[in-house]
Amino acid sequence: MWKSSALGFRLTILALFGCWANVAALTCHPDCICASNIVSCSKKELVAIPNSIPEYTAILDLSYNSLSRLRAEWTSVHLNKLHTLFFSHNGLIFISEEAFSRVLHLRYLDLSSNKLRTLEELHFHELEELEVLLLYNNQISQIDKTAFEGTSKLQKLYLSQNQISRFPLELVVKKTRSPELELLDVSGNKIKSLPIAELNSLPAFLKNSLYLHDNPLLCDCPLYLLLTQWHARQLNSAVDFRDEFQCVLPLNHKLSIRLFNLQSDYMNCSVPNDSELEAFLEDTLTIHCDTKLRNMTKVWMTPSNETIQAGQGNQSAQVLPNGSLQLRELRPEDSGTYTCFAISSHFNETISVQLKVHNSSAIVGYEGLNTAYTTLVGCVASVVLVLIYLYLTPCHCWCRKKAETQQEESIHSSSLSTTPTHQAEAEKEALDMRVAFIDPARCGLGQNGKVQPNAVEQFEDKRLSATSRKKSDSESFSTVLLDSPVVV
Ligand SMILES: *[C@@H]1O[C@H](CO)[C@@H](O)[C@H](O)[C@H]1NC(C)=O
Ligand SMILES: *[C@@H]1O[C@H](CO)[C@@H](O)[C@H](O)[C@H]1NC(C)=O
Ligand SMILES: *[C@@H]1O[C@H](CO)[C@@H](O)[C@H](O)[C@H]1NC(C)=O
Ligand SMILES: *[C@@H]1O[C@H](CO)[C@@H](O)[C@H](O)[C@H]1NC(C)=O
Ligand SMILES: *[C@@H]1O[C@H](CO)[C@@H](O)[C@H](O)[C@H]1NC(C)=O
Ligand SMILES: *[C@@H]1O[C@H](CO)[C@@H](O)[C@H](O)[C@H]1NC(C)=O
Ligand SMILES: *[C@@H]1O[C@H](CO)[C@@H](O)[C@H](O)[C@H]1NC(C)=O
Ligand SMILES: *[C@@H]1O[C@H](CO)[C@@H](O)[C@H](O)[C@H]1NC(C)=O
Repeated sequence: MWKSSALGFRLTILALFGCWANVAALTCHPDCICASNIVSCSKKELVAIPNSIPEYTAILDLSYNSLSRLRAEWTSVHLNKLHTLFFSHNGLIFISEEAFSRVLHLRYLDLSSNKLRTLEELHFHELEELEVLLLYNNQISQIDKTAFEGTSKLQKLYLSQNQISRFPLELVVKKTRSPELELLDVSGNKIKSLPIAELNSLPAFLKNSLYLHDNPLLCDCPLYLLLTQWHARQLNSAVDFRDEFQCVLPLNHKLSIRLFNLQSDYMNCSVPNDSELEAFLEDTLTIHCDTKLRNMTKVWMTPSNETIQAGQGNQSAQVLPNGSLQLRELRPEDSGTYTCFAISSHFNETISVQLKVHNSSAIVGYEGLNTAYTTLVGCVASVVLVLIYLYLTPCHCWCRKKAETQQEESIHSSSLSTTPTHQAEAEKEALDMRVAFIDPARCGLGQNGKVQPNAVEQFEDKRLSATSRKKSDSESFSTVLLDSPVVV
C-alpha cells in the first residue's frame, strides 16, 4: 500500500514534469518573438542560445547576439522543420563537428560576420539539404578540402571578406563540386594566383557567378586574357565588378593597378578571338552552346539560315541532346556563322561562332612543309655551329671520344627506321641524317615558340621512309650534311 502510493506520487511528479516540459517547448522564450513558425531572438544580447526553441520552428533568427560557440546541444530537441537559421554578427569562434546534427534539414545557413578562422574536415557534411551558405566577413584562412563534402545540394557559397589565400578549386571542378553549385564568391580575400586553365574550362553558368575580384592577384597575361574573355562574354562576375579587379605587378608588389588597364599600359597581351573557329576538310567538329544559365532550350542556325532543334539534324549537321552542334565531314562550303539561340523563361541568349573550313585536310600542305624545312635547316646550321665550336676548341682526347660515344648512342636509339636490306653506304647516310634530324625537330619546337605538331609528324614520316623522299629534299639535306662534322 505504502509502496504503491509512493509509486503513484512518483508518477504524478513525472507526469507533471513532462507536462511542464511540453508546455515550455511550446511557449515562446521571453527573449524571443514568435510569429507562428518564425522565432526571432535577434539583438537580445544573448550569451547562450535559449534552450527551448519550439520544435515547429522553421525560421530561427539568432543574429546580433554574443553567441561564441555552437555545439550539438544548442537545441535540446531535433528541429526537423527548421530550414533557415540566421547566426550572423555573433562573434562566433567555434562550431563543433556535430553542431548541426539536430537541424538536418537546413537549407539556408547564415554564419556571416563572425570570427571563424578555419573550416575543418567535413564541417558541414550533415547538412545534405543545404542550398545557401553565408560565411562572408569572417577570419577564415584555412579551408579543408573536405569541409563542404556532403553538401550535395549546395547552390550558393559566399566566402568573401575572409583571409583565404588558396583558391578552393575542389569546390568548382566537376569531379568534386556540388552538382547544383551555381555561385561561389571568394572576392575580398588574399588569393594571389588562380588556376587559370581549370577556371577557363568551367561552364559559363558557373563562371558567370564565380566572384574573384578584390584579391591581390599577380598581374600576368593569362589572368588578363581569362578576365577579358569573361568580360567579352558579358559574364556578371567580370562585368559587374570590372573596376574592383586589381592586380600587383610582378616586379613591384606595392603597386596595385586595375586589371583591365593592364593591356598596353603595362603589358602587351595578345587577345585571341573566342568566336572564331578553324577546321579542316572532312573534320568532325562539336560547337558548344555555353550559356550563362543552365537548362536553356537551344536552337542552332546554320550559315544558310536553316534552324536545327536539339536532338534533330542529319548526317552532316546535328544538334546533340545537350545542345551542342555537331558538324561532320566538313567542307569549305560549311564555313560561315553558326548561331545558337538559347531561350529560357526569363533570359534569352545568342551565341555566334564564325567557322572557317580550310580546303585541305589537317595535314600541312607543301607550303607548311616548306616553312618547316626552312626552320629545320636553320636548326641544323645552329647545331653544326655548336659542333664546330666544340671540335675547334682545344680539347683532350677523352672529350672527342665522349662526343663520339654520344653520337653513336643517338644513332642506336633511333635504329627503328633502319632497313636491313639497305646497302651499307645508303644506310650510313640514312643514319647520319637521322642524327641531324633528332635535335632539329626538338629545336624547331622550341625556337618557334609555337608547337607545330603536324610539321613534326611529317618529319617523322619522312624519317621513316627515307627512300621515298623527293629529290630536292634529299639534296638540301645532303648540302647541309656535307659541311657537317657530324658525318663520320
Ligand atoms: C605595348 O605595345 C604598344 C603598341 O605596340 C606600345 O606603345 C607599348 O609601349 C607597349 N607596352 C609595353 C609595356 O611593352
Ligand atoms: C571576333 O570575331 C568576330 C567575328 O569574326 C568579330 O565580329 C569580333 O569583332 C571579333 N572580336 C574581337 C575582339 O576581335
Ligand atoms: C535542369 O534539367 C535537369 C534535367 O532535365 C533537371 O534534373 C534539373 O533539375 C534542372 N535544373 C534546373 C535548375 O532547372
Ligand atoms: C540569313 O539571314 C541573314 C539575316 O537575317 C541575312 O543577312 C543572310 O543573307 C541570310 N542568308 C541566307 C543564305 O539566306
Ligand atoms: C543537313 O542539314 C543541313 C541544315 O539543315 C542542310 O544544309 C544540309 O543540306 C543537310 N544535309 C544533308 C546531307 O541532307
Ligand atoms: C554534349 O554531348 C557530347 C556528346 O555526348 C559531348 O561530346 C559534349 O562534350 C557535350 N557538351 C557539353 C557542353 O557537355
Ligand atoms: C525569349 O525569346 C522568346 C522566343 O524568341 C520570346 O518569346 C521571349 O519573350 C524572349 N524572352 C525574353 C526575356 O527576352
Ligand atoms: C578545294 O580544292 C579543290 C582541289 O584542290 C578544288 O577543286 C575546289 O574547287 C576547292 N574548293 C573550294 C571551295 O575552294
